[in-house]
Amino acid sequence: MKEELREQLIQGALKARETAYAPYSHYCVGAALVTESGQIFTGCNIENASYGATCCAERTAVFKAVSSGGKKIRAIAIAGGIEGREPEDYAYPCGICRQVLSEFGGPDMIVIAARSALDYQEYTLDGLLPHSFGGGSIR
Ligand code: THU
Repeated sequence: MKEELREQLIQGALKARETAYAPYSHYCVGAALVTESGQIFTGCNIENASYGATCCAERTAVFKAVSSGGKKIRAIAIAGGIEGREPEDYAYPCGICRQVLSEFGGPDMIVIAARSALDYQEYTLDGLLPHSFGGGSIR
């Protein structure tokens, strides 16, 4: 992927992280994705006192994209870490988010785990979720 787009996604994830609602875990996550048409959507984690109702940053971004008509995702960047600090580790998408990403992207979707614009790890979704279960299996 082009360097400029990668940087735009990482900056978007870092910015979205600032809006995280994480009063319980104090772990703030931001995500930014680009759809096939080039539109960018961002999301943050949104926690709930009933913990199971929490939505991860990745899914917030995916649901914003899909509900705006963007159903094909090309790449997503994720940045997470303890509230009030720069990300210290790479934040990888949880299992549920990997499954949701696979619904709206191919195996070659790019997943970037970033600590900063210059410090990131890049994967394909297939690398993070091999042998995935998808619509093709039940049609
Ligand atoms: N979280 C995300 O936003 N994305 C992930 O992929 C993993 C976890 C959030 C959920 C919760 O608000 C906090 O991180 C701690 O689990």
